[in-house]
Amino acid sequence: MKFFVDTADTKEIRELNELGLLDGVTTNPSLILKSGGNIAEVTREICSIVEGPVSAEVVATDYAEMMREADVLSKIADNICIKVPLTLDGLRACKSITSDGRKVNVTLCFSANQALLAAKAGATFISPFIGRLDDMGFDGVELIAEIRQIYDNFGFETEILAASIRTPDHVKRVALLGADVATVPPATLRALVKHPLTDKGLEQFLADWAKTGQKIG
Ligand code: E4P
Repeated sequence: MKFFVDTADTKEIRELNELGLLDGVTTNPSLILKSGGNIAEVTREICSIVEGPVSAEVVATDYAEMMREADVLSKIADNICIKVPLTLDGLRACKSITSDGRKVNVTLCFSANQALLAAKAGATFISPFIGRLDDMGFDGVELIAEIRQIYDNFGFETEILAASIRTPDHVKRVALLGADVATVPPATLRALVKHPLTDKGLEQFLADWAKTGQKIG
């Protein structure tokens, strides 16, 4: 499974990229706002840090303007992936953008039928929003299972990009269900490494090692 980081914070992206854990980045208008930077400048910097796809979202709601914005965003770097909302205009834009070889991430997916439409439109990625479904009292992760089955039934190549991930348990469950990618906030990505028995075991090993009085090398 691939890991994308869900942030526009270039310091965080740089640090996580140095760990060798990143396969890409997702941003959205809210994350750009949080970064405090200009969308073109921030996105250009992110694209220079990571080699994988960097999702940059259009903010237009009509097809023609989405296509214009997609052209502007595409010029930022070769690894830009255009993010479009799951609307009829967004799906039309998805079809047009992918038809000329560019990558598209269809975002704001909350149902299996929406995911089916995105695959029909040739989406590179579909982004089901797990956490926001949980917030409404649903089990967001179940949507991943439904989409996985539908895509496998028909051999759709659209990658399932589990989004709106809030916890390490979300990551584990979407991985078990076969999501191709999880886009994870930096703090949650770092939390994946944590286990109290790892800390306890390491502490014991280091204490015993100190008693040997030895050095390696
Ligand atoms: C995905 O691409 C979105 O940027 C993101 O996962 C949304 O997450 P949120 O529901 O925590 O805002």
